[in-house]
Amino acid sequence: MKVDPQQLIDDGYIVLRQVVPPDQLEELRTSFEILVEKQKVVWERERKPGEKPGGVWTTSGQPRVFFDEVVDAATANTIEFCLHENTLGVSQQLMRAPEAAITLMALMCNPVRDHGPASWHRDIDPTGQAPLKGMQMDYVKNGPGYVQWNIPLYDDSVFWLVPKSYCRPNTPEELQHLLTRPQEPMPNGIPIELSAGDGVVYSHMGLHWGSNYSTKLRRTVHLGYRAFGGNSYPIVDHFYWNLGFTKHLPAKARARFEHFFQLQMQQSDVIAATFHAIHNKDADGFRNGLAKLHPGEEERMVAVVFLSKLADKVRTLKDPEVSKLPIEERIGAISAHRLNFHLYEDFARRFSVEDAESIWKRFSTLYEKIEAEIARSVPNRTSRVMRYQLTDMPANFEAEDFIRSW
Ligand SMILES: [Fe+2]
Repeated sequence: MKVDPQQLIDDGYIVLRQVVPPDQLEELRTSFEILVEKQKVVWERERKPGEKPGGVWTTSGQPRVFFDEVVDAATANTIEFCLHENTLGVSQQLMRAPEAAITLMALMCNPVRDHGPASWHRDIDPTGQAPLKGMQMDYVKNGPGYVQWNIPLYDDSVFWLVPKSYCRPNTPEELQHLLTRPQEPMPNGIPIELSAGDGVVYSHMGLHWGSNYSTKLRRTVHLGYRAFGGNSYPIVDHFYWNLGFTKHLPAKARARFEHFFQLQMQQSDVIAATFHAIHNKDADGFRNGLAKLHPGEEERMVAVVFLSKLADKVRTLKDPEVSKLPIEERIGAISAHRLNFHLYEDFARRFSVEDAESIWKRFSTLYEKIEAEIARSVPNRTSRVMRYQLTDMPANFEAEDFIRSW
C-alpha cells in the first residue's frame, strides 16, 4: 500500500480503504471477540467494591481492550495485523523513518448502554509535553515522529475531526466551543466514514471527537506507531506494552517486538549519555546527543523541552520520599500510565539521586521560562482545554542559549 506523507502533513489525516486485507476480516473479528471475552473476565475480577457487575465493561463509555495483555497463541493474528505492511509499513512510510515500532495496541468497543457524545479534544497536553505551536511546527517541518490509527472491524463513523486543526492552536470560537458545549458538533468538524476494514491515520494533535458512544456494535482497532531515526523526536516516545506478552507469538512476530525493544534501549542510551553530558557541562556531548535525538535542525528546541520533562520525572522518581510510595502513587507522581511506568522507572535507575538533581538544575532556566508562559497563558491548569492555550515556545531561547544557562 502506497501513501503520500505530504497528504498527512497537509490535512492532518488520511483515509485508507481495505487496510484489513478482505480475506483476513472474518478471522480477525473472531479473534478480537475472543479477546474481548477474556478481557471481560479480567474486568469483572478487577471491579472495585461497589462497582456494577462487569466493571469497566458496564461502566465505561468506550471500553478499551489493550489486547496484547490478553492475547494467546490462538489469537496471535491480532498482533500480526499490527505488524502488517498496511499498518506498520504505511506508518513507516508516513514518518519517512529508517525504523518504526508499535507503541499502542488497543480495541475500542461500544458501551453496554448509550453514553451519547464524548467531548472534543486533542490527545496532547502542552503543559506536560511542549508548547503547542512548537510541537505543531516540528510536525509540519520535520514530518511526524508518531502516527495514530483507527481501523474498524465493523462500519464506523463515530470518529470526527477538524481537518488541518492539528497544525494550529484553537481559534477563539473553538476555545469557546470546547469550554461551553464540548459535546456538540464543531464548525468544520467532519465525520470520518469508514467501512469495515478501512482505516484512518491521523495526527493526534488535531481536534477530534467520539461523536456518539451508542450500543451499536463497535470493534475498532486503535494503534500508535513511533519512528526511530526520523527527523524529529516523537511526541509519544514510550511503549504501552512490555515484552512479556510476546511469549504467545510465533517466533517471527516475537523477534519484531524484541527488535522494537532494542531500539527503545538504544534510544535510552543516547538520552542517558545526553543527560550525563549536560551534567558535566559538556556542550559538544550535548550537541551530539541532541542531533541524534532530533536530526532535523529546525524546531530542535522542542526535543530539549521534552528532555526537560523527562529530567523532571527522573528527579521525582529518585526523590527518597517518592520512592517509598506504593506504585499507584509513584505512577501519579510523574503522571505516567500503568502501561509505560516501568520504562521511566528503569530509566531513572541509570542515575544517582545527586546526578538526577544536578541534571534537573541544568534544565531549570528553560523549565521556568515555560512555567512563566503557562502562568501567563493558561488561566486554569486543571482544565484540559485551557492547557491547550500554552502555545508559544520560549522566545529567543535556542540550544546555544540553553547551554549558556547551565
Ligand atoms: Fe482522542
